[in-house]
Amino acid sequence: MDMQSGEKAPELLEAQAHVWNHIFSFINSMSLKCAIELGIPDIIHNHGQPMTLSQLIAALPIHQSKNHDIYRLMRILTHSGFFHKQKVSENDQMEGYVLTDASRLLLKDHPLSVRPFLFFVLDPILTEPWHYLSTWFQNDKPTSFVTAHGMTPWDYAGNDPKYNNNINDAMASDSRLVASIMFNGKGKRVFEGLESLIDTGGGNGTLAKAIANEFPKLECTVFDLPHVVAGLQGTKNLKYVGGDMFETIPPADAVLLKWILHDWSDEECVTILGNCKKAISGKGKRGKVIIIDMVIETEKKDYNSVQTQLLFDMEMMVLLTGKERNEKEWAKLFLSAGFSNYKISPILGLRSLIEVYP
Ligand SMILES: C[S@@+](CC[C@H](N)C(=O)[O-])C[C@H]1O[C@@H](n2cnc3c(N)ncnc32)[C@H](O)[C@@H]1O
Repeated sequence: MDMQSGEKAPELLEAQAHVWNHIFSFINSMSLKCAIELGIPDIIHNHGQPMTLSQLIAALPIHQSKNHDIYRLMRILTHSGFFHKQKVSENDQMEGYVLTDASRLLLKDHPLSVRPFLFFVLDPILTEPWHYLSTWFQNDKPTSFVTAHGMTPWDYAGNDPKYNNNINDAMASDSRLVASIMFNGKGKRVFEGLESLIDTGGGNGTLAKAIANEFPKLECTVFDLPHVVAGLQGTKNLKYVGGDMFETIPPADAVLLKWILHDWSDEECVTILGNCKKAISGKGKRGKVIIIDMVIETEKKDYNSVQTQLLFDMEMMVLLTGKERNEKEWAKLFLSAGFSNYKISPILGLRSLIEVYP
């Protein structure tokens, strides 16, 4: 068949490669998931020095007929920055695998491990709705998730204890990382001077516990759906309350919303923010809403950061009615909910800490 008029072979082949790269992109996620399921980073970490391919194969729980395929998995994951190769010793030409910062963050026992988040996002419950995206564009259902599963993720969690645990573990792992960055950096000042804080949609309370420990005089409340907080025990300055943030949020000096507003549409966010405003009313200058979410910055950030933010936005569209927002979209929400001022502190990598004032 002839090439289309004006098309040249190099451009045609580059276009084909670009398409292939996108068709196969899911293999990055699935190869990583496989390596974590097999425990590869933990095995290399426990080895304590660069681990040769044969040592790795010997340590892996795999069928011997697959031994010679492990190098292929390691090759792509090394290419994608999850492993490096290093000489086993000064006098040895033999190379072994070592971890990178990214694979260290996937270790089972790393205190800030993001492993639960990986397993949650790559579980078939969350990947299945992607096959319904174009169907969703043509039907009247709120999301692809509802199209695939017939209920929202929150209802799914209420009906399936395993999924409920997975989401709570995933969120808890993220909260540990966020707390560690916040309290070792500029985030601490945000909570100073507050007497009470309500972590709305606070899940199992991992972030609130860290805040309560850091500020022993601050009264912290974790407010989430009844099935999420059922049976959870508070501490001296931390308690759990079940409820619905679309109805009312208990009063406090400040309301914390971490990874909440990106789950919801603009209209839903205005309702939540309106309830936050009522919750902090009467708290004078102390009263504020503290948001931890992304601010999309297509102009300012590098290619990978923007792409990751846009991938998150698509994930929100497929699973929920939410979205990732740029500053203009955030400002519009705050104004619509009756707030007068806000301050964005980009101190959490791809996410920011946003303070909103009445
Ligand atoms: C994406 S998770 C974020 C959890 C936590 N803030 C974190 O970042 O680790 C969203 C949370 O909102 C809670 N949620 C959903 N609908 C809610 C509602 N109507 N009222 C209160 N919480 C709700 C969910 O149960 C879940 O814990």
